[in-house]
Parts: sequence; C-alpha cells; structure tokens
Amino acid sequence: MDTKTEAEAGAAATVKVAVVYYSSTGTVHALARAAVEGAEKAGADVRLRKVAETAPPEAVGARPEWARHLEETADVAEAGHEDLEWADAVLFGTPTRFGNPAVQLRAFIDTTGPLWFQGRLADKVYSAFTASNTAHGGQESTILALSNTFYHWGGVIVPPGYTDPVQFRSGNPYGASSVAAGGLPDEVALEAARFQARRVAETAAFLKAGRAAA
Ligand SMILES: Cc1cc2nc3c(=O)[nH]c(=O)nc-3n(C[C@H](O)[C@H](O)[C@H](O)COP(=O)(O)O)c2cc1C
Repeated sequence: MDTKTEAEAGAAATVKVAVVYYSSTGTVHALARAAVEGAEKAGADVRLRKVAETAPPEAVGARPEWARHLEETADVAEAGHEDLEWADAVLFGTPTRFGNPAVQLRAFIDTTGPLWFQGRLADKVYSAFTASNTAHGGQESTILALSNTFYHWGGVIVPPGYTDPVQFRSGNPYGASSVAAGGLPDEVALEAARFQARRVAETAAFLKAGRAAA
C-alpha cells in the first residue's frame, strides 16, 4: 500500500456508507456486495440494505430465479430511513426497467419525503450502479434518472468517471454496471463496483474532514 492510499484509507476510517439496492435475480445484488467490499477496503463502516419486494407473490413465484434470489437474500436487512440518516454516503443499486430504476427502489425513495423536507438527506455523497439485459439497454439513463433524486436531496453526486484504469475496461463513467444476460457480473464489473464505492467513501471522508476543520 503506498502512502497516498494509506492516507486515504485513514481519512475514510470514520465514514459511514450505506449500499441500498434492489435485485430480482441477483445481478445487482452481486454488484452491491462488491460495493460493500470496496467501501470496507477504504476503511468505511458499511451497511448493506435491500429495499422491500413490492411485487405480488404470484409474480415472484412465476419466475424460479426471482423466487430463489428472494429466498437466498432473506437475511439481508431491509433499508429504512435510519440507514439514510446514518450514512455519510449512499450507493444505490437497481436493475434497469425500460431505462429507469425499478419500482421497488423508487417505492423506497418515495417514502423519504419527510427526511427530505427536514434537510436530512442533504450534503451526503450519492452514487448509483445498475444492470440491464442488453449492452445498451438503458444503464446510463437509469443512473441518470436516480441522479434527479440526488439533485432534489441536495446531494453531492460522485460518479466514477474515468478516474481509475478499471473504468476504461468497464466503460461506464456513470456507475458500475453489468449485462445480466451474460450471467452474474464478471470481474471487471465487480472491480468497477469496488472502485466506485472506494471513491465514494474517500470523497465522503474528505468532505467530512473538511467540514470538521471549517
Ligand atoms: C419490466 C422490465 C423491464 C426491463 N427493461 C429493460 C431494459 O429497458 N433494458 C434492458 O436491457 N433490460 C431490461 N430488463 C432486464 C433487467 O434489467 C435485468 O433482468 C436486470 O438488470 C437483472 O438484474 P437483477 O438480476 O439484479 O434483477 C427489464 C426487465 C423487466 C422485468
């Protein structure tokens, strides 16, 4: 580990990062777990939270891979307002649905009006990641659609950009992403998610240190 990385890890030591996601069949869940790894490696205190499933049981049951994933992630805690309040930075993950975030994640976000009204979502770092079935299936528009909410909250949006070599391989400067039709995320997509979360944790740490010093 070089000196800069050590300093950055130290700066992120007290930062709290929430990874809040929705996943029907495991792709976004895998990216979320990689994001947890990246934030933890940066020294952050991390919470992994899924949002509640809102689809009726008959819809879930009609797709075995959906029902299986729901069962496999039964032990992941559900996101609540306290997770957003707790966090200095939040990474949101969602599959694309016709180029937009999944309704399950939107349903959670749409409960946050009271927090927003009291300014309790402002000044935090936000970032987003996604998955689609096809290569150009709306990944960027999904992440940008989530950014609309971050603007309303008064958040500090931190995209990965092309600030790490992995970004030239993943090819998505908006956020980590994966093409689900190819199976679970490959190592490049997972590494991009780890990098994104590390960058988010480090940026949140710098902001926190700057506020404390101001
Ligand atoms: C209603 C619906 C709409 C979808 N829209 C798109 C889309 O616009 N583009 C695309 O490539 N995939 C689309 N998909 C595929 C999902 O994005 C894909 O299954 C998902 O990213 C897999 O992530 P998960 O395993 O975390 O659920 C759609 C799926 C559903 C059910």
